[in-house]
Amino acid sequence: INIELPGEKARTEAAQRLKIGLYFATWWALNVVFNIYNKKVLNAFPYPWLTSTLSLAAGSLMMLISWATRVADVPKVNLDFWKALFPVAVAHTIGHVAATVSMSKVAASFTHIIKSGEPAFSVLVSRFFLGEAFPLPVYLSLVPIIGGCTLAAVTELNFNMIGFMGAMISNLAFVFRNIFSKKGMKGMSVSGMNYYACLSILSLLILPPFAIAVEGPKMWAAGWQTAMSQIGPNFVWWVAAQSVFYHLYNQVSYMSLDQISPLTFSVGNTMKRISVIVSSIIIFHTPVQPVNAIGAAIAILGTFLYSQAKQ
Ligand code: 3PG
Repeated sequence: INIELPGEKARTEAAQRLKIGLYFATWWALNVVFNIYNKKVLNAFPYPWLTSTLSLAAGSLMMLISWATRVADVPKVNLDFWKALFPVAVAHTIGHVAATVSMSKVAASFTHIIKSGEPAFSVLVSRFFLGEAFPLPVYLSLVPIIGGCTLAAVTELNFNMIGFMGAMISNLAFVFRNIFSKKGMKGMSVSGMNYYACLSILSLLILPPFAIAVEGPKMWAAGWQTAMSQIGPNFVWWVAAQSVFYHLYNQVSYMSLDQISPLTFSVGNTMKRISVIVSSIIIFHTPVQPVNAIGAAIAILGTFLYSQAKQ
């Protein structure tokens, strides 16, 4: 018989909370670093289709090396797994490229303010595509999310339609990614880390032909030369940093998804956006009008109300 003493139970719970806290802190910190370097790179080298491809390539390479050297367990997956992963990878690729295109056109903070509206997309897609109904408070929580995002968008000083639409498309694609990945993960015994690794590899197989069609080696070569002449050799490190940190923050987020409910995850994701919005405004000296900040705050408050209402 396993008798757990009350003190022991409290200690186990505290240890679990500490572990999740560490996951969250690591996830946010890695994400802030990714966003800063991603924006620095895109300011000097505005080719988001290539930087998105490089992020996926860095992650795929890191994981292939980890598997080859047995640092990470090689996942035991079959053809059915890859088939189920395919729609997830399509949605992941679209969501990633769209967010990066957005980042290349507007302030990083603006992309993330619009991306804080993701729960609204989740509810609307579930309602209209899956016929899922929600209690009234869930719908009511969409009012501040949509209202706050709208207020932030109309008062954004450097508004750009492609930047706005990129963030909106990313929201829609990531909602589908989450729906498909829930279905795809069912019954599979793959860790969060390996699931994300396979997702990166499959996305990397999908993206390059499109990246070449939209941008292509000629533009990249000319842009690279300009960036190197403006920034110097440090530019290579910026590109490496944005690529490696993209993989790391996503890997940690999938690892924490293993430990927590999707709801806790979405609250964590919103808190992550706050740290990205605040730090990018400080680092890039982004001009913000008070009414613009109020719009962002209302949208973020709305996502918290949403998570409470869903509970
Ligand atoms: C990307 O480039 O994929 C996005 O910036 C990621 O957005 P996320 O903050 O939802 O992971």
